[in-house]
Amino acid sequence: MTILVTGGAGFIGSNFILDWAADSDEVVVNVDKLTYAGNLKNLSSLGGDCRHVFVKGDIGNVELMSTLLSQHKPRAILNFAAESHVDRSIHGPADFIETNVVGTFGLLESTRAYWSALPDAEKIAFRFLHVSTDEVYGSLEKDDAAFREDSRYAPNSPYSASKAASDHLVRAYHHTYGLPVLTTNCSNNYGPFHFPEKLIPLCILNALSGKDLPIYGDGQQIRDWLYVKDHCAAIRRVLECGVLGETYNIGGWNEKTNLEVVKALCGVLDELKPLAGARSYAHQITFVRDRPGHDRRYAIDANKIATELGWTPKETFEAGLRKTVQWYLEHQEWVNEVSTGAYRVWMNAHYKVESRS
Ligand code: NAD
Ligand code: TYD
Repeated sequence: MTILVTGGAGFIGSNFILDWAADSDEVVVNVDKLTYAGNLKNLSSLGGDCRHVFVKGDIGNVELMSTLLSQHKPRAILNFAAESHVDRSIHGPADFIETNVVGTFGLLESTRAYWSALPDAEKIAFRFLHVSTDEVYGSLEKDDAAFREDSRYAPNSPYSASKAASDHLVRAYHHTYGLPVLTTNCSNNYGPFHFPEKLIPLCILNALSGKDLPIYGDGQQIRDWLYVKDHCAAIRRVLECGVLGETYNIGGWNEKTNLEVVKALCGVLDELKPLAGARSYAHQITFVRDRPGHDRRYAIDANKIATELGWTPKETFEAGLRKTVQWYLEHQEWVNEVSTGAYRVWMNAHYKVESRS
């Protein structure tokens, strides 16, 4: 048996493949365009393992995807591929529309053609699992109830709007063509292999190199943090026993302000890699101009997946953050490699424009 994963060289996709390989003998075909965020080094521990087949390609390339589907005959497709960084979507939305909307549409078309031609038993067993985000629901006020699966879509950034559009396409392919789809909407992930443009890895690496820890606005925005391995386990669970056409919210029951998160990671660094003179890394915290249209609060009500599929997060934020900081301390080579080239250009441009108010 075979599954096909898209975006498997990115942060969550690579964690998913590594966990899958640790657990299963089923082959994973990994199709990734290798944008700035895709890094095959994330999968280097698999070595020449024949259960991982990598193909460099674009999900929107219908000809390529159709060839791969008829060649490998996967029983499931898991769509992780996306442009995923909100700030980049504000600076340049075009790539987000191209991959997240047009690319997902292309992938759905290739999948529909492949699935339609499957023999009945395989057709029934087939799954298309679309990995999405809580950001499609927009922003919550402090006392609002957490997002449920039936919360209204109200995306606010080009990123979340493009993900919302992809969710709608996936839903429509189920409703119209009967494609056996599942959609997951997850909160903010953190953990190993997280590209250092995002808050947690950015602050770990900036702290270690003596740079500012840039907090947008007042730092009181709230995110619901989930350790990436818990997200991967939830996706496996949904793939295994999710109800077709349903969506599942995935979250950590762990709401924190950005300032709390950064202070917590400074605390872990103070312990694991103390600065001279007993100074805390927290002295590097700097408030910078806010992100335009910055969503104030995300929170996931993860009751449905808990009660219907029996999934709950295993990792506490304290233990997950410690593991994450430890991972970055122990993977200097990975850090050095991603910190060069296109990434450096982005950092210089973005944090110069968004400089202190
Ligand atoms: P990422 O940016 O780290 O990785 C995305 C991967 O997709 C990269 O390897 C990239 O090369 C690949 N890719 C981009 N465009 C492609 C294309 N056109 N064709 C093939 N591959 C392409 O993202 P991530 O954080 O791993 O997120 C994975 C998925 O999970 C995304 O769909 C994202 O919206 C969703 N998600 C992320 C989070 C989070 O906190 N990171 C939370 C909820 C949902
Ligand atoms: P991020 O990791 O980009 O994820 P998302 O925007 O998808 O939630 O950002 C997490 C939070 O941290 C978000 O509220 C924006 C904030 N943030 C900062 O305050 N400073 C930064 O340098 C970055 C990258 C993010």
